[in-house]
Amino acid sequence: MAIISPSMLSCDFANIQRDVEMINASSADWFHIDVMDGVFVPNISFGFPVLAAMSKHAKKTMDVHLMIVNPDQYVAEFKKAGAHYLTVHYEACTHLHRTIQLIKAEGMKVGVALNPHTPLSVLEEILPELDLVLIMSVNPGFGGQKFINASVEKVAKLKSMIVAKNLKTLIEVDGGVNLETGARLVKAGADALVAGSFVFGSENPAQTIAELKKL
Ligand code: DX5
Ligand code: ZN
Repeated sequence: MAIISPSMLSCDFANIQRDVEMINASSADWFHIDVMDGVFVPNISFGFPVLAAMSKHAKKTMDVHLMIVNPDQYVAEFKKAGAHYLTVHYEACTHLHRTIQLIKAEGMKVGVALNPHTPLSVLEEILPELDLVLIMSVNPGFGGQKFINASVEKVAKLKSMIVAKNLKTLIEVDGGVNLETGARLVKAGADALVAGSFVFGSENPAQTIAELKKL
């Protein structure tokens, strides 16, 4: 049974509280929060006030995915706004080890995200430091994109790296997740699934979450 982390990027921003309550009452495990800066990715989502407003009503783990450059300067602010997991992009961090220590020092769980083209080998040395690896199965920046099939093999490969090192690092996958791609990902070793448009674009989001939860 995978951890289900609905992406709030696809919620109705005019009804954030309603959608947060829907997730609270559903079988979802986490809230996935996408922060975009218009520099690392060609899109801007939302920042601290919106995250803090969501956190105020959310009764589950806040899984924050930063698609921003220079995350170090905002780590403490994300903690204040309610983040439990803070995931940064490998591609955005020159001194990744330092960034990871900063996140841990603030008392948060730490994740590193990899773009579709970034090989797993870049994590070789840092893997034991991580609570989570986020495999991007689309190019980050937008919801509703097509799943990149090579991600399934990437998850399986990462799973064997984690098992070989006897680690407890979670594998999360983000982008184009639905019941079909989700089933393949769980089989390959994914522990957590992010789903945005598949959940919020469905007629009954809570039921869609329950179906994903059964994978
Ligand atoms: C994309 C974001 C995702 C996005 C996923 O850059 O990181 O979390 O919301 O959306 P779907 O599930 O619609 O592909
Ligand atoms: Zn995301």
